[in-house]
Amino acid sequence: MADVSAVYEEMLSFFRPLWPGEDKPLVLGDGKKDHPILMLIGEAPGETEVIKRRPFVGRAGKNLDEFLSLAKLSREEIFVSNVVKIRPTEKGPTGRNRNRAPNKEELSLFIPWLMKEIAAVQPKALVTLGNVPLKALAGEKITIGDCHGQWQESKAGIPLFSLYHPASIIYRRALAPVYEEDVLRLAASLPDISDMKTRF
Ligand code: URA
Repeated sequence: MADVSAVYEEMLSFFRPLWPGEDKPLVLGDGKKDHPILMLIGEAPGETEVIKRRPFVGRAGKNLDEFLSLAKLSREEIFVSNVVKIRPTEKGPTGRNRNRAPNKEELSLFIPWLMKEIAAVQPKALVTLGNVPLKALAGEKITIGDCHGQWQESKAGIPLFSLYHPASIIYRRALAPVYEEDVLRLAASLPDISDMKTRF
């Protein structure tokens, strides 16, 4: 199985010529690169993530860190990445770039690379953060409202647990207790992760 660094080398050679003259750096995955207990997958990096070239280090990252402490996990023992590795932007009313959801073209460019990344990292389980990674890994028809806080099979052949996106709690405070309950449920099932593969 390829080392994830080799996958990233391949990715950089693939993406570099795609947007000549445009500044679209790739924000790659970060953390324990082989057989981590969990691989957390977000949507796409934001401004801070691009500056620091690390996923989840901005505002959403703060909520993610709270999640990790609730689940008694550290960033060193898990792997964190995104479906789309560039920051999707659009011009806001003031003319400044703001984040937007990844479009279909970006998703179809990046999802095959996400599958290679997962195959190289070989996590024991996947945790999707929000709808974008959930749909990429479990199917277009599935939505987070229906399956948050539950385990299911994924297209990668690895058990998948879905959580709301950590940033969604910033905008929808009512989700905070739901999110917390889901995280605690995930934490409680961590000791059984190794047996889970045989259950699907
Ligand atoms: N939101 C994401 O989905 N990913 C990041 O890396 C940061 C914010």
